[in-house]
Amino acid sequence: MQVAPVNFSQFASLPDDDCQTRIKEARARLGERVVLLAHHYQRADVYCHADLTGDSLKLSRLASQTRADFIVFCGVHFMAEVADVLSAPEQKVILPDLSAGCSMADMASLAKVERAWRELATVLDPDETITPVTYINSAADLKSFCARHGGIVCTSSNAEAILKWSYAQREKVLFFPDQHLGRWTARQMGMPPEDMAVWDFDLPQGGLTAEQIHRAKIILWKGFCSVHQMFRPQHVLDFREKHPEGLVISHPECCEDVCALSDYVGSTEMIIKTIAAAPENTRWLVGTELNLVQRIAKEFAPQGKVIRFMSPMVCMCSTMARIDPPHLAWALESLADGEVVNQISVAAEDAEMSRLALERMLSCS
Ligand code: 13P
Ligand code: SF4
Repeated sequence: MQVAPVNFSQFASLPDDDCQTRIKEARARLGERVVLLAHHYQRADVYCHADLTGDSLKLSRLASQTRADFIVFCGVHFMAEVADVLSAPEQKVILPDLSAGCSMADMASLAKVERAWRELATVLDPDETITPVTYINSAADLKSFCARHGGIVCTSSNAEAILKWSYAQREKVLFFPDQHLGRWTARQMGMPPEDMAVWDFDLPQGGLTAEQIHRAKIILWKGFCSVHQMFRPQHVLDFREKHPEGLVISHPECCEDVCALSDYVGSTEMIIKTIAAAPENTRWLVGTELNLVQRIAKEFAPQGKVIRFMSPMVCMCSTMARIDPPHLAWALESLADGEVVNQISVAAEDAEMSRLALERMLSCS
């Protein structure tokens, strides 16, 4: 029996306990028709409902493997787009709040990247000399752009392998939107700073001279993550002074100086696995989003591990936090009642080409 569609406003002011109960009831009604994927930054009151969790690479693999009718994605918009592109045509991907975006992904648009490509073409032949590489934190039309120009997608856990692939294709890389991941990865591969140039997308020709463009081996889009830019080298130095035996682990979206001062740098999944595998009674400073750090601090406390957040300020992914219990309850109840709300559906032409760029990535990860 089809029930009248429920409006989100009926859920907005539901007490927490009611929300949790309704999420569980809707999930029970849906059974195996639904799978809940959650990124590691998801808030605790949503994360606890996840069937599967991971970093961006793991979540994209999981999305391509699940057979559930509905994939409810507790993450941000680009992650749900990837799930839509990699899942089967009959599966539906739902993002419980459509305003859950990524501010870094928004720093590169197709119009800006196409303009950059045209401006680069006044200096050299980009299709002959440059492999475009987009971080997975980008819209589907940019992944499609990369596929059309012989490029590829990368994540924080495979960026080095992807850059190696990219240099096997052409002599230069245009890396967007995160300058920090691009810079850190190139540095790890032994590239000196003078081979890197930063493309300021607000300036004509990226603010670069023709000579700088000819010289660069990697051109880094001037994008960044507003959460990870809050972690500063001084935070690491203060921790090391107080706790010389302590260990520091950071996400590669942190600036180069923070990464260089860290003992380990890696994706969210790598951060969790590294601390999980560490000896008991170790002390950690962690440079990534607050929800993840708070969760592992609790989880590993019984092993005597002391886990501290890198910044004295609160650095949360506020857009991911928009996936809250009221939105999750609303999305699931609507599905259980036969109404699909907030479906993420990538346009056919972008879906086909971005799948190609993602499959290239998956095959060399
Ligand atoms: P991971 O792929 O490491 O989970 O990173 C995603 C992200 O957006 C980090 O800010
Ligand atoms: Fe985007 Fe930063 Fe949030 Fe990651 S933490 S999803 S890069 S805004």
